[in-house]
Amino acid sequence: MNIVIFGAGAIGSLFGALLSKNNSVVLVGRGPHISCIQENGLTVKGKTRLSVTVPAVESTKDISFTPDLILLTVKSYDTETASKQILNIIQDETMVLSLQNGLDNIERIEQIIEKNHILAGVSTHGTIFSKPGEITHTGKGKTILGELDGHQSKRLESIVHIFNEAGIDTQMSEDIVKEIWIKAIINSSINPLTAFFGCKNGYLLDNPLLEKIVECVCMESSLIASSEGITLSPSEMIEKTKEVIRDTALNYSSMLQSIQQGKKTEIDSMNGTLVRIGVDRHIDAPLNEILTQLITSLGSS
Ligand code: PAF
Repeated sequence: MNIVIFGAGAIGSLFGALLSKNNSVVLVGRGPHISCIQENGLTVKGKTRLSVTVPAVESTKDISFTPDLILLTVKSYDTETASKQILNIIQDETMVLSLQNGLDNIERIEQIIEKNHILAGVSTHGTIFSKPGEITHTGKGKTILGELDGHQSKRLESIVHIFNEAGIDTQMSEDIVKEIWIKAIINSSINPLTAFFGCKNGYLLDNPLLEKIVECVCMESSLIASSEGITLSPSEMIEKTKEVIRDTALNYSSMLQSIQQGKKTEIDSMNGTLVRIGVDRHIDAPLNEILTQLITSLGSS
């Protein structure tokens, strides 16, 4: 398959490296990471260990094939810009798969790209951007993909097949919107708490006070999900979140990495969206509100 990874951050680079074994892959990104990959290839350390030579470019104008699949792995706040940038390489059969954190990405993509091209996915892999040209795979996670309307299409099967073939443990879902909500609830506690306390994911379970806060945030976020018709058991969500924390215990969350690198965080797409939905549905969301404010003030300080 001809695959463009649009957003060569840590997770995009991991998927790009793995998929490049059996497919034609081009990574699109910016700055020193791209120039290092061009010069010395891409190295993955940690749970996955490999070095690959893979084309990397800064602009879609430099892509010479017609993509079958564009994997969108940019930060949620870059979704509109990225969607505009990939418009010129989308052909009739091109699939655009959003594999991003946050609750509002599909809505944003749909404003720019025709809906029939779009699929969605979630992934719980833990990855760290170590240095330009190198990422570390800190926690093996699961990946779930689906068509927006839930049907099990041939094109979805083909992506699931190539992902599994590449060693990316992937399943199909008939309700990807629900999976996006599950991931958002998981992120709503792990990401802002680790970003605020500057700790690895695992510390959230080592510290009983933080573990309690994780549980309370999960309960509040699950309540907001049910107001949107996404019924999830709060106790199951707490268990799922703790499972991800255990699986990615050695990881620095993507939000903490953004803070450390002086970059904008995805707080608005994550907890910020939950707060906005809470306001619309008349549900109090004090924990999500405080976390949003804390991370926003951390980012601007
Ligand atoms: O955003 C992240 O960091 C990841 O979604 C996860 C699964 C919480 C692992 O750190």
